[in-house]
Amino acid sequence: ASNNKFFVGGNWKCNGTKDSISKLVSDLNSAKLEADVAKVDTGFPQEVVSLISQNVVVAPPFVYIDQVKNSLTDRIEISAQNSWVGKGGAFTGEISVEQLKDTGCKWVILGHSERRHVIGEDDQFIGKKAAYALSEGLGVIACVGEKLEEREAGKTFDVCFQQLKAFADAVPSWDNVVVAYEPVWAIGTGKVATPVQAQEVHAACRDWLKNNVSAEVASKTRIIYGVGDDYVGPKKRQVHAMVALEGFLYSLENRQKARKEERSVNGGNCAELAKQEDIDGFLVGGASLKGPEFATIINSVT
Ligand code: G3P
Repeated sequence: ASNNKFFVGGNWKCNGTKDSISKLVSDLNSAKLEADVAKVDTGFPQEVVSLISQNVVVAPPFVYIDQVKNSLTDRIEISAQNSWVGKGGAFTGEISVEQLKDTGCKWVILGHSERRHVIGEDDQFIGKKAAYALSEGLGVIACVGEKLEEREAGKTFDVCFQQLKAFADAVPSWDNVVVAYEPVWAIGTGKVATPVQAQEVHAACRDWLKNNVSAEVASKTRIIYGVGDDYVGPKKRQVHAMVALEGFLYSLENRQKARKEERSVNGGNCAELAKQEDIDGFLVGGASLKGPEFATIINSVT
């Protein structure tokens, strides 16, 4: 991690029911976070200390935001998973930034790989959304990341830089922006994103910000690590099967290592990732649906 304040976001995606979310919130409320320890020394209220030492954010599905806001302790902020590109009105099925603020959201995730590659949002549209959300005072978690064919064609940096440029062209300031790098290629493919590979792209993104925005923005902008999409679940088993199939190519040691370094950020691998110089936190999918595991990730700041 750099000297920036650690940032951990839990992206719940399209998961949960009123009951499961109530259980998750209660697990999070009772989880022991490292920031709680600092409270003892300063005497400041816990929420203040927590916000100073790290940002912890969860992004529930829209329909559960109110439930979460009303039951989750204030030390964890609420993010939306998406927002409309401008002021609300006749836009069936969309949710405006103003509505998100009204329900207590402080952040919005924009440009997530699922919105880019499943829903079909493009760079310019995402850039406009970011600009609008920022202009209304929401923080933006701006996602970038390359697909498998792009990585194999040696275009990883080009793709990430192009996506960063779309944000840079649209936003007037980076003060309230956190960049999330998620390698889409590491989803259900049997490929493994190692901490070193993640660090390499994070460093390149920071460099891009330095050369194209400013040295100050490069050093102050948090670049957090996330992973593509639906890795947790059937695809996880698929990956295990592939690892087994290719077993003869691996030494036992390498296979164990590959399993440990599975692509999703989880309680087991987060400490190693957090040690990388340019990784300032995580955007977590599946593991954020389990309170204790998410707490371990939050506490992995080095
Ligand atoms: O937004 C982060 C997400 O895409 C990571 O998902 O489940 O692979 O940790 P997951």
